[in-house]
Formats: sequence, C-alpha cells, structure tokens
Amino acid sequence: MYTLKKDVIFANTKIIMSTPKKEYSRITTNSLSEMKQNGEKIAMLTAYDYTLANIIDRAGIDIILVGDSASNVMAGHETTLPITLDHMIYHAASVVRGTKRALVVVDLPFGTYQADSKEALRSAIKIMKESGAHAVKLEGGKLAKDSIDRILQAGIPVMGHLGLTPQSIYKFGTYTVRAKEENEALELLEDAKLLEQMGCFGIVLEKIPSILAGEVAKKISTPIIGIGAGNKVDGQVLVLHDMLGMTKEFSPRFLRRYLDLDNEISTAIKSYSSDVKSGDFPNKKEQY
Ligand code: KIV
Repeated sequence: MYTLKKDVIFANTKIIMSTPKKEYSRITTNSLSEMKQNGEKIAMLTAYDYTLANIIDRAGIDIILVGDSASNVMAGHETTLPITLDHMIYHAASVVRGTKRALVVVDLPFGTYQADSKEALRSAIKIMKESGAHAVKLEGGKLAKDSIDRILQAGIPVMGHLGLTPQSIYKFGTYTVRAKEENEALELLEDAKLLEQMGCFGIVLEKIPSILAGEVAKKISTPIIGIGAGNKVDGQVLVLHDMLGMTKEFSPRFLRRYLDLDNEISTAIKSYSSDVKSGDFPNKKEQY
C-alpha cells in the first residue's frame, strides 16, 4: 500500500516513514474517494485550535475533524451534548486559519439538526459561512436522512457517523461496543448504504466489531473511517488529546498513545515553577 522510504530510529521506537501513492497539495472530498480506490489509507485527527491544527496540517494529516468532542476535551463536560453551534464555529474558524492542506470537517452539535431538516441546513450553512470549513459531519442513518439530503442539496459535503453515536448516549446508557447483534449489524449496513446512495463523502464508524466494519468498507464505495472499528477500513480517526496522552482517565482498548504529554507537560510546568520560586528564571541572558 505504501512505498517504504526509510527507517528512522527515534529512542527505542522504530518509525517507518512512508510515502503516499500520490501527493495532494489540498485534500478534497474527491481526493478521499481516489485514496480509497488506490488503497491508500486516510489519516484523520481532531483539532480544536489554530496552533495544534497547524502542527497537524504540516505533519500531513488528510482530514482534520473539529469534533464535538471539544465539549469533553476543551470544555470539560462529561458528554458532547452541551457544546453549542457558536462554540463549534469558534473552534472551527481557528482550525481553518491553521490549515493549508487538510480537509476540515466540523461536527453539527447536538440539537442543531435533529428537529427538522430546515434547521439542519441553517446550522450547516452557518458553520460553512462563519468558519470557512469544507464539510460537516452528523450522527445517524435513516433517522437523519431528510437533514442529510437537504444539506447535500445545498452543495455542502456531508460525512456520516454510525455505530457508537455519542450524542445519543442517554438513549443507550453506555459507551460499549455497538452492532454486536445481527439485527443491529444489518441495520448499520443498511444505514451505511443509505449514506452512500445519498452522496455522503465519508462515514465514521465508531466502536463496532472489526469484521462488520471491514464488510461495510468492502461493500460500499464511500471512504470508511474507523475509530475502534479495526484495520479493515479505509482510514482511522482518533481524538488528538487522547493519542497525545493528555487524557489519562480515558483508556479504551482501541486507543494507541503516541506520547505521554500529561507527564511531559507536568514535568515542564514543575521545572518552571521551581525556577521562578528559586529566582533562577529569568537569568541575565533572559532579560533586557
Ligand atoms: O467528536 C469527535 O471527536 C468524533 C470522533 C470521535 C470521530 O466524532
């Protein structure tokens, strides 16, 4: 799938740098479907601010999701439900300013698209106009059909989200693996087909069995991005703060931590505090 370029050894970690099959100066929804056709995996991460979006973009991530997980990791809420449309637009506009290459997708927050399709369209238009983002994402299959249809007809690209849908947490009561039973799995497959037929440019599948996710990715042409959905899909997404090791209390099996930033940041802050208190900072070179 990837052409091996070089092996680089960093500390104890062997990092394999790879070259994508085709270089893209700007990722579009068409690039994503081309990547699926070429068997090139799609890398997606969340971001909520300018600085981190800029780092992620320069590192070559294909899709930046301004997720409603901002409600958890940025605002400290227990669920994604409290975040508002204006909060999402504030985060999204900051991310867009930091991004040159990635496709920026913004979650429609809870309560801004469920009541009726006209409200859904108004919310999507507000996001596109006020943030400059490139697409929206919303949770649900056939229940969200009218809203998705109306948004797509207005020319706004839509990404679907099936499986574990955190905005419905109070309906289900838990964050456990979804679609383990046959009827739920068949329903998910039908929902994915519906999203494909309507013209969604991608679908996030969250926390479902790997075999089911692989089957969906094989049966439909829409790029499938997994989180806790195994490696038989077309790409992966993680919440940035989780993969950087900033959210210690959250440890699902699917999460791979690439850094222990909680520890790193805490060590740096303690050193700074100690330097201030001892009078060591600032020294002669650090003043005018
Ligand atoms: O809000 C979010 O971060 C998401 C991802 C978990 C896919 O929807």
